[in-house]
Amino acid sequence: MSASLHELNRRFGIPRVLRFSAGEGGLWRAEVTTEHCTAELYRHGAQLTRWWPTGHDEVLWLSQQARFLYDKAIRGGVPVCFPWFADNRPAHDPDGPAHGYARITTWQFTDAKQHDDRRVTLSLRTDIDPFELRYDVTFGPSLEMSLTVTNASSAPAHFESALHTYFVVSQIKQVHVTGLEHARYLDTVGGESRPMQQDGEPIRFDAETDRTYESDAATRLVDPGLQRIITIEKTNSQSTVVWNPWDRKAKAMGDFGDDEWPGMLCVESGNIEPNAIALEPGASHAMRVVIGVESIGAD
Ligand code: BG6
Repeated sequence: MSASLHELNRRFGIPRVLRFSAGEGGLWRAEVTTEHCTAELYRHGAQLTRWWPTGHDEVLWLSQQARFLYDKAIRGGVPVCFPWFADNRPAHDPDGPAHGYARITTWQFTDAKQHDDRRVTLSLRTDIDPFELRYDVTFGPSLEMSLTVTNASSAPAHFESALHTYFVVSQIKQVHVTGLEHARYLDTVGGESRPMQQDGEPIRFDAETDRTYESDAATRLVDPGLQRIITIEKTNSQSTVVWNPWDRKAKAMGDFGDDEWPGMLCVESGNIEPNAIALEPGASHAMRVVIGVESIGAD
């Protein structure tokens, strides 16, 4: 049985720093305000919806049309994709939801603590058979997300995962992503998977983009319009997905404003076929992603 909001605040609340409240649609959320940053995380899907370091603008993109319903994923922030990515459903679950169950599951808050340097770590857990998931999010001048998956069954099991980070950008046609200049990728625009290789240049955007890169490299989202670089560092992640739906696909989504696509870009860290993770009984896998923001000059 889940605790009440009052009980959550009593157990894990930190005066003036962390409080639990009913957010959009009455769904429970944690609100974090420290000298380092401002953030919000929903219990539904363990989904981050806001984070910005003090002195910067919002980093996480959230659609104005996002729905906050128990059976829907929230459009924006950081959905947790698990135990499969996109439509890669396993044969035994042909009708399962896109991107798996984690983002439409009600997680439990299990711990919260403030560190000596004033960063705050919030921990959540859930079970998605045959796995136990633990998600630790540390709110500071950077945003650290750590997803630990344990095979709780007596048989080997495998999974895909992604921390599906949506970022605010000034204008999609004027930003670029570095770090994947020579990486191989699958181009999945149009529903097919075409093997490709990046041409030695940063990724730039002039059409619908939906690519799964095979790479464990750190990336940088360079945005001259917002005069900032979003840095994405990761550990135990062999896949990076880069996605913008562009106009036609944005219009086809009921929870995505028709004119919002130029202002967002997803750069997602995960482990996606052919880099799915196999776990022996009792074994664990921890993927860690750290998001930071650097200011750049106007020119
Ligand atoms: C991306 C996928 O990660 O998520 C895209 O690469 C997909 O193919 C997008 O369209 C959004 O998925 P959903 O299920 O949230 O609409």
